[in-house]
Parts: sequence; structure tokens; C-alpha cells
Amino acid sequence: MRWPYPRIVAHRGGGSLAPENTLAAIRLAASLGFRGVEFDVMLAGDGTPVLIHDETLERTTGVKGEVAVTPYRELEKLDIPRFQDAARLCRELGVWANVEIKPAQGHSRATGEAVAGMASELWRGAPLQPVLSSFSSVALEAARAAARELPRGLLVDEVPADWLGQLRALDCVALHCNQRHLGEHEARAIKKAGYGLLCWTVNDPVAARRLLGWGTDCLVTDALKLIGPVFK
Ligand code: G3P
Ligand code: MG
Repeated sequence: MRWPYPRIVAHRGGGSLAPENTLAAIRLAASLGFRGVEFDVMLAGDGTPVLIHDETLERTTGVKGEVAVTPYRELEKLDIPRFQDAARLCRELGVWANVEIKPAQGHSRATGEAVAGMASELWRGAPLQPVLSSFSSVALEAARAAARELPRGLLVDEVPADWLGQLRALDCVALHCNQRHLGEHEARAIKKAGYGLLCWTVNDPVAARRLLGWGTDCLVTDALKLIGPVFK
């Protein structure tokens, strides 16, 4: 595919420069000239999709608790944003979103379905649709069933031997892999097969150059000030 999305994307909203998965992080990335952000979406206890990476609240909020059993009205007090607010902000700022569907254990299907259904409404008529990605094939299948028109990316740590079969089975447009484990041969094969290739998390300009040289379409970074200005 020809990659129609931005080439450099801020990880978890604003990389290492702002609290992760917050509206402030997305605003900061936009203010630095970033045209794309990645963030993680999980379902709260009442089914509201919210931006958070961990299944537990403690690391990012200092409060004990599990996301999947805590209603949004409690998460709101901890400054955890709703997916719908992040989506609206992205549209307002003209920032593309790589929406990572991050289901809590046992909630893969429900999360894929809810996030895709909501994304389809939130980006209706937008010039650039979001890409929905997930490590969970169950979540991706549910996302496809809920919003077939939205592009999907398969997230992996290491590129699996049967990457082509998995991309085909899930009807994905791109592979999103950990840059640490990607080799040139795999990168070129993925591109040759016609798929998009996104690498996370690329914080070293030397690695960024190497990956782009192999045909990688998109780099997700924490190092906004180091990677952003060089490659935008
Ligand atoms: O979507 C790429 C990257 O965000 C995956 O890893 O753990 O930061 O969500 P993680
Ligand atoms: Mg993520």
C-alpha cells in the first residue's frame, strides 16, 4: 500500500514529554508539529472506552484499582480521558490517530467492537480515517465486524513466521511491529507483499534512518524532539 498517513507519530499521545494517554499529550504533540498520535483504548467498568495503557490504575494515577471494574465517573476524577474526547480533539487539531485497542483480559471482543463502532461514528466524513491496531486477533476480528470500512493494523512484538497469513485472515492493511526485532529481509518482504509497515518505539535517529531506508512507512516515537524535527 501507499501509506497515506503521517510518517512520524507520537507514542501514547505525547511520547515522553507529557503524561501518557492524555488530552494534554495529544495537544502537546500537535503543538510540536506532529501530525499523528498513537494512544491506547480500554473499556472502563461501565463500558466507556477510555485512554489507558495498563489494566491497573496505579502506575499512571497513583490510585489502586482495575480499569475493567471501575466506572468512568471514577476514572474521570483521575483525569483519564474518554476515547470520544480524544477522537474529537484529534479531529479538531487535524491530527491522525493510530487507535490501539488494548483490551483488559477477558474483554477482547467487547473492546474491539465498542472501539471500532465508536471510531466509525467519531471519524465519519473525516479526510483521514484512523487505523485501529491491536495485539489481540479477537479484538481485530470484532473491530472488523463492527466497522469493516476502518483500516486495521496487526500489532506484534516479533514478526511471526506466518505474518502474511495472519494479515490476510484479519484483513489488515499494515503490520505494526517492535523495531527491536525487525530485520531488513522481513521489512522488505512485508512491503513487497503490499502491506503498510509501522515500527514502535523508535527513539534513536540512527535506527529511524535505517528503518525508513528499508521501506518502513511509519515510526512511533517517544522522543518527539529528537525524531520529529529530523524526519517530518
Ligand atoms: O502501538 C504501538 C505500541 O504502543 C505498542 O506498545 O505497550 O506501548 O502499547 P505499547
Ligand atoms: Mg500502544
